[in-house]
Amino acid sequence: MSDLENASAAAGERTFPDGFLWGGAVAANQCEGGWREGGKGVSVSDVARYRDPSTMGDINDVHGFCDITDEEIDRALENDDERVYPKRHGIDFYHRYEQDIELLAGMGFSVFRFSIAWSRIFPKGDETEPNEAGLEFYDRVIDCCRAHGMEPLVTLSHYEPPLALCRTYNGWLDRRTIGFFLRFVDVVTRRYAGRVRYWLTFNEVDSILRHPFMTGGLIESRFSPEEFEQVEYQAMHHQFVASALAVKTAHENDSACQVGCMLTKRTIYPYSCRPADVLKAQQEMRGVYAFADVQVRGTYPAYLLSRFERRGIDIRMEPGDEAILAAYPVDFVSCSYYSSTCAAADETNLEVGLENTARGVKNPYLQTSAWGWSIDPTGLRISLVDLYDRYGKPIFVVENGLGAQDELVDDDRGGKTVHDGYRIDYLRRHIQAMWEAVVEDGVEMLGYTTWAPIDLISNSTNQMSKRYGFVYVDVNDDGTGSYERYKKDSYEWYRRVIATNGAYAFA
Ligand code: BG6
Repeated sequence: MSDLENASAAAGERTFPDGFLWGGAVAANQCEGGWREGGKGVSVSDVARYRDPSTMGDINDVHGFCDITDEEIDRALENDDERVYPKRHGIDFYHRYEQDIELLAGMGFSVFRFSIAWSRIFPKGDETEPNEAGLEFYDRVIDCCRAHGMEPLVTLSHYEPPLALCRTYNGWLDRRTIGFFLRFVDVVTRRYAGRVRYWLTFNEVDSILRHPFMTGGLIESRFSPEEFEQVEYQAMHHQFVASALAVKTAHENDSACQVGCMLTKRTIYPYSCRPADVLKAQQEMRGVYAFADVQVRGTYPAYLLSRFERRGIDIRMEPGDEAILAAYPVDFVSCSYYSSTCAAADETNLEVGLENTARGVKNPYLQTSAWGWSIDPTGLRISLVDLYDRYGKPIFVVENGLGAQDELVDDDRGGKTVHDGYRIDYLRRHIQAMWEAVVEDGVEMLGYTTWAPIDLISNSTNQMSKRYGFVYVDVNDDGTGSYERYKKDSYEWYRRVIATNGAYAFA
């Protein structure tokens, strides 16, 4: 018996169902670089500045990470320096994708999630003709994945609206953006028909309320504080209509493809069993579910409608919008899951922090990552059960992972590696919890893609030093480094997990 066979036997055949997809997830804006190559336009991410969290006044202010003004954008555009705008260089996936995909294939990936940068295909967003060089780049990426036996899982919008759309049209606030987006969706779903089976519309669609610029292309300083909530929800409505029409377009172009929504899934616990805390947790959770409710059930939930009424928010809908939402629900539900939080009716004397750009009360029973995110595998199981019970649609966990500071050291074969037992531990426990959700709780799942299988630029802080990968990329926060790739200890571990269809996570 080989090591792997022994391990599987020892794990008692705790495997995932046949056909379960295993892999990893990245996004164009955080890994590609090549921000001015191949005719690409500037996207919101190309003007996102590096922030050292330790120098920030209020670490819990996500707006401090992600907000921007027109003046800051002007300054960014006058500045060619890629070091202070790290997403401009990313990890140079644009030039190294073949090597990177081969490395991922070495772990036995059957799925690879990445996004198509809208601004590579329509540099300003509102052109009528696509940029052929951009389409050819993704031809090569997709073909490379397929040649290595990986199913591409493609996000249509992952914090990458073309900057010109934000400046000229106020991003998703303008209804015309729906039409521009659909032109992009039509072009890519037609071009890659038969080669991409799984699509996601908006990454973490609920994040428009947390970082409106990155998600919705909204430059907050252009609006008065009083009107901004209305602006955000109007933009959200346009994304819902666009998402439904994207489902329609993708199905028309390829009847075999499946399209999913994507939520930032946290488990939100009541801080105590005081009824007021339980109610607060329920309300916060409804605030997140509301986004999938529209995309899965095709109708606005009572929760959102009553919130609009109470806060005097009047969403402008065109005749036919509600029919569109109802006619084109998503085929499956996907989510990111990193951590859980608590909710308390009275936060006095409680520790509050950010968990993946969402604010919450810290759970005293949980350990946190170096970035303060709570580590809670059981919360993943709870979330999966909740999502499946609520929607009855297959679930795809398309992000899960540990951001950590890694140390590159010499290995015993004359090369370099990272001993990242902490990452293995995090992933092992989450995979175990996921298995329990599938096998013991009956949740139907399509697959699991870790964030991120190869180090890349952090979304929130634009740091390179917050690393998630099985593959170390030698790039520093200031953009210096050799860009060489090195396998960490977790690389071989995840390879074994995949080879045993999950059983090795129990070994
Ligand atoms: C998810 C995003 O919210 O979290 C990713 O979809 C992001 O883009 C990931 O990278 C981890 O967050 P961060 O800020 O650590 O990169």
